[in-house]
Amino acid sequence: MPGAVISGWGICVPDKIVTNEDLSARLDTSDAWITERTGIRQRHIGGTTSELAIVAGRRALEKAGRSPDEIDLLVLATTTPDATVPGTSATVQDALGLQAGAFDLNAACSGFVYALVAGHGMVLAGSKRVLVIGSDTLSRITDWDDRSLAVIVGDGAGAVVLEATDGPGELLAWDLGADGSLRHLLKCDHGGFLYMNGKEIFRHAVRAVVESSVKTLAQVGMDPSDVDVFIPHQANARIISAARERLGIPEERTVVTIDRYGNTSSASVPLAMADALETGLLQPGALVLMSGFGGGMTWASAVLRWGG
Ligand code: UT7
Repeated sequence: MPGAVISGWGICVPDKIVTNEDLSARLDTSDAWITERTGIRQRHIGGTTSELAIVAGRRALEKAGRSPDEIDLLVLATTTPDATVPGTSATVQDALGLQAGAFDLNAACSGFVYALVAGHGMVLAGSKRVLVIGSDTLSRITDWDDRSLAVIVGDGAGAVVLEATDGPGELLAWDLGADGSLRHLLKCDHGGFLYMNGKEIFRHAVRAVVESSVKTLAQVGMDPSDVDVFIPHQANARIISAARERLGIPEERTVVTIDRYGNTSSASVPLAMADALETGLLQPGALVLMSGFGGGMTWASAVLRWGG
């Protein structure tokens, strides 16, 4: 059946690296606590959501060998838009010179997987090429005196080009979920700072990832033992381990980048995907499971056959 394939990808993180030691120098925290409780050793901080998205998007276009005028649609997943109006996608569309529709999508840390599924759907509906970007600058809505959040956030962006193909598409199955009754657990009011009930989110996150992953795999008659590469949202190394263990996916098939990037919200899955491509873990033919969760609460899983 015709579908879409990912023909290019690109990432961007700010140059400035903030280490656990840097944070420990100004907050009542320590490298030992941050490393042990979160798995984070450093994070990149800086830039705006559009700046990071533009660079990641340009790199994805280059890798796909596509010019801006060959893109029909831009879907930008972000929970930290540059402004309330206009959508940050407008800035990105203009800077990249796309002659395409452009819209923002906010599903918090599940945003990239939501956008990937939406982009695939648009290809099935007739778009030829969709640029999907996840970009977030959580640092801009973080109270840097709040140690519970300052130690986990990072900034970054990741992008993919989705192309229509006559051959088999990559997306085999997906699950998008939400439980808005839990929206108070992670929120940021206009002009305010991020608030998170970390313990509660943690509990729900592990369950959401496990249940959503199993449900998605079951749609195509598979189970976690079939997964070659597991790309979870990177919110906490302990959440990744707990979900991975419950799913029975070996550590060596699981992508972990949180040590270098922290929690980059919509960017974490594409950053991890790019890492898996760079290290060679992600090879043509691999069965890929992506699973994200976050504010809303939202969750999203996708199963792809890499290379279609
Ligand atoms: O991206 C999607 C949404 N976000 C998430 O999925 C995040 C999910 N939650 C988490 O990752 C974890 O809950 C956190 C990393 C945020 C917190 O870890 P925790 O193990 O749940 O810590 P806690 O909040 O239960 O705090 C344990 C102790 C407390 O001290 P007492 O009361 O035991 O004396 C805290 O005050 O650790 C203390 N603490 C810290 N100590 C040093 C909290 N933050 C820090 C800190 N440095 N930065």
